[in-house]
Amino acid sequence: MTDKAKLELNGKPIEVPVIVGTEDEHAIDISELRAKTGFITLDDGYGNTGSCKSAITYIDGEKGILRYRGIPIEQLAAKSSFLETAWLVIWGELPTRAQLDGFTALVLENARLHENLLRHFESFPANGHPMAELSAMINTVSCYELDIMNGEDAKNIESAAARLLGKVCTIAAASYNAAQGKPIIQPDPALGYADNFLQMMFSQGRKDYRVDHEVAAALDLIFVLHADHEQNCSTSTVRMVASSGANLFASCAAGVCALWGPLHGGANAAVLDQLESIHKSGVTVKDYIARAKDKTSGVRLMGFGHRVYKNYDPRAKIIKATADRILDKLHINDPLLDIARELEAAALADSYFKDRSLYPNVDFYSGIIMRAIGIPVNMFTVMFAIGRMPGWIAHWKELHDQKSRIYRPRQVYIGKPIRDYVAMESR
Ligand code: ACO
Repeated sequence: MTDKAKLELNGKPIEVPVIVGTEDEHAIDISELRAKTGFITLDDGYGNTGSCKSAITYIDGEKGILRYRGIPIEQLAAKSSFLETAWLVIWGELPTRAQLDGFTALVLENARLHENLLRHFESFPANGHPMAELSAMINTVSCYELDIMNGEDAKNIESAAARLLGKVCTIAAASYNAAQGKPIIQPDPALGYADNFLQMMFSQGRKDYRVDHEVAAALDLIFVLHADHEQNCSTSTVRMVASSGANLFASCAAGVCALWGPLHGGANAAVLDQLESIHKSGVTVKDYIARAKDKTSGVRLMGFGHRVYKNYDPRAKIIKATADRILDKLHINDPLLDIARELEAAALADSYFKDRSLYPNVDFYSGIIMRAIGIPVNMFTVMFAIGRMPGWIAHWKELHDQKSRIYRPRQVYIGKPIRDYVAMESR
């Protein structure tokens, strides 16, 4: 393979470098094209654009591969924990025992919210969206963290990462409790990360409440599976905001806003909405599948198919067993979960879905698990945001380490050519 690509522009030959990644992916480096030729490239929606070089996550959608820092997601799901994976994603290597213990303690000690911050939850309306509150509160937290806001040395970044990872769980549980008019529960540093979240969410008014460790492990697994997914919409947003020099909290608050959109983080909630509508309408699973196959119906099976994974979503393969285990264990009598299982079996056996490689994706199973453990649908995307936090932090840090320039794409202007201002009385 050549290390140069040849273009011809206005009859003149141009050579541009070819960049080869670790896994033999090839890219044409056009960073000097405009300076040399006056041309830019146009790639609406960035589907063909590599926006950076990154050493964090590798995906091969055709083969169904996902690796963080080179380690297959299957191994991390089986052997790691969320905070260990977070360390790996952010710092690039698995932590030593001392590093992991130190970081875990730092995260949990910093999960507590300043008493003044708790008052902000009183001012949100009960039906305010928890993603709006999460983004607002991440920015608000930064007002109380001035000591670490401006430094970029390793200790500051570790401290900022720990505070962010710790506090997002507390913010999420606080917005849930406050919306119901209940007091906010602060974290207990003696508990694990996912255990703490469940305790803050569900122990309210229940003296006998004990976190079920299998449920906490399932939630921890969901976080591990969401920890990074390279240059998706929210991560690219974090990098874009970070490139202006914005601090970690501001950049991740922007990531939350990008993730909020239904085309991105909202898919797991869409799965539950669809199950709800199937249940309410009384349509059979067989008929619903027929509708999803009919292109004129406008119906798609939510939680099936993936833009990147044209094979099985490797995260879905991992999480399916956990979803089965949690549903069997909790013995929940929930018609939506019964419909989900029927839908999954019917679609997996149907040639329309098989021929198009439309398998259940991670959102299908994570939505089912979260429903089973009692997390309300409007918080599903918040759970995704908590899980994605290590990725956003890692990309913020990588961009700073790379001393990247401010991100500033160009455009092809298609508006009106120059014309004169027309006075009001002549319009
Ligand atoms: N239900 C029914 N048919 C589908 C579905 C589906 N969920 N997904 C794709 N198809 C069909 C398409 O109609 C098309 O059929 P055709 O070849 O006969 O025309 C074929 O499968 C290929 O579909 P595309 O739209 O080309 O696939 P694309 O990669 O563009 O879309 C997407 C991927 C958007 C995820 C799609 O599968 C979809 O809408 N799924 C449901 C929504 C969903 O679950 N989104 C979450 C994705 S995961 C995530 O974001 C973390």
